[in-house]
Amino acid sequence: MAPTLYDEVAYPSHPFRQTHPDRLALPAALFGLPYAPTAAARVLEIGCGEAGNIIPMAVSYPGAAIVGFDLAASAIAAGQQVIARLGLSNIRLEARDILEVGAEFGQFDYIIAHGVYSWVPEVVRDGVMRVIRACLAPDGLAFVSYNALPGCHMRMMIREMVMHHLRGVVGFEARLAGARDFLRLYIDNAPDDHPTSLTIKSYCRAMLDRDPRVLFHDELGPVFEPFYLHEFVSHAERHGLKFLAEAEGQWWREELFPSSRGKAVSAAVGSDPVQMQQYLDYFQARLFRQTILTHAERRVDRTVDYRRVRQLWVAGSARAAEPDPDLTSRVAVRFELGAGAAISIDDPALKQALFQVGQAWPRPIPVAELPDDPDVDEGLLQLFTAGHIDLTVGATPMAATAGERPVASPLARLQLAMGQSTLCGLDHTMVAFEDEASRNFLTLLDGSRTRDDLVEALVAGGADRPSAADTVEAQLKGLARLGLLVA
Ligand SMILES: C[S@@+](CC[C@H](N)C(=O)[O-])C[C@H]1O[C@@H](n2cnc3c(N)ncnc32)[C@H](O)[C@@H]1O
Repeated sequence: MAPTLYDEVAYPSHPFRQTHPDRLALPAALFGLPYAPTAAARVLEIGCGEAGNIIPMAVSYPGAAIVGFDLAASAIAAGQQVIARLGLSNIRLEARDILEVGAEFGQFDYIIAHGVYSWVPEVVRDGVMRVIRACLAPDGLAFVSYNALPGCHMRMMIREMVMHHLRGVVGFEARLAGARDFLRLYIDNAPDDHPTSLTIKSYCRAMLDRDPRVLFHDELGPVFEPFYLHEFVSHAERHGLKFLAEAEGQWWREELFPSSRGKAVSAAVGSDPVQMQQYLDYFQARLFRQTILTHAERRVDRTVDYRRVRQLWVAGSARAAEPDPDLTSRVAVRFELGAGAAISIDDPALKQALFQVGQAWPRPIPVAELPDDPDVDEGLLQLFTAGHIDLTVGATPMAATAGERPVASPLARLQLAMGQSTLCGLDHTMVAFEDEASRNFLTLLDGSRTRDDLVEALVAGGADRPSAADTVEAQLKGLARLGLLVA
């Protein structure tokens, strides 16, 4: 295969939580549709790059069968090396062109195409939909992300100016330097008393902060096509697919718990979810979408019975603001939800539920273990659509506490050995991990050492013997909280 721009400049590859089958199956679970059990799922990623999104799934779910392909042979080779070093046999990567893939590639319960659709020519975009239709199992779910309109008009405006500035400039370093020069020129010289240029400036600043490789490919690459939701859905429909939901729960809010804005939109345009969401995109100048598609033939009843929440798992960092909260009466308790958000709850069952969720954080717990009360189910769904807690259809295999011979995620240990400062958590998130002592400690957790052995290893490394046992406990606790411990 001829080298591509992605062979010339590697694209950073890492997990995207919103693409995980545990999340993709959520709308199916809430709508009462069948979906494949995620721990044994067949998963395909189209345009997987170095497979940083699917290798962690293969590590967490030994029973899953995972395939990824990409046009960039060097990205596939890099991913294959990681797979070989981890000794994984449930994942396969191939250097392939979307245009060459058809039904013979296999049937998959979950198909992911992240960061591909808007960055490939029309014929390949068509190929993405064709592959999904051909390879998606009857109860399957597909995730496709794309740049959205109308918000992307603003990004297009900047891209066109930058592209003009870069005319005739070739090569990664030169294009990057030229783009940055232009962005700074704009920020320093466009007027501050003009609302449009002020908005453009804030986009320019965000672009300057982006990873240079992402900037090079995403903003400065040859193709950058945004779409209105209705255009994307029409394209999917032409290929026998249909809109099921947006991947991020916040986008179900107006459908499940409509605000006055949602009510006004449905009064004006009806309750069709695509129509409704299209108008909400207009109001919010939406820039990006991550849409879950399914086969057009599937009958979808969008009525959500809140009791279906009881089949799910929940995770959240909720903390009661006071040390000894009253969880039994109707006295309001304030819960801090992270990122500065807080909520006051007086319903005793919901208070207890949220308290339990926070105690288990970051480990998900089954909703079935929380007080069995319709207010809890509805409350959890509301908190989820507000972005305060996470709901999934399955539990990620991460340990709440370390076992006799603690084991850290083999992927995280390999990433450390490869010198990476950001590791992949077992909950399919990224964990910044730069502290030298913790890095050294994590490498010891291969399941061969007891706590006593770990103490000895720290002492041999120069640690103070009297405090070494406490250090081991503190490190193990910290790693469990980061979702890096398997056992
Ligand atoms: C922006 S990157 C996204 C990579 C990855 N999905 C992610 O989100 O990190 C786009 C990927 O699509 C791949 N790609 C582009 N055209 C393709 C084609 N015709 N067939 C297969 N992969 C293709 C590129 O090689 C690149 O790895």
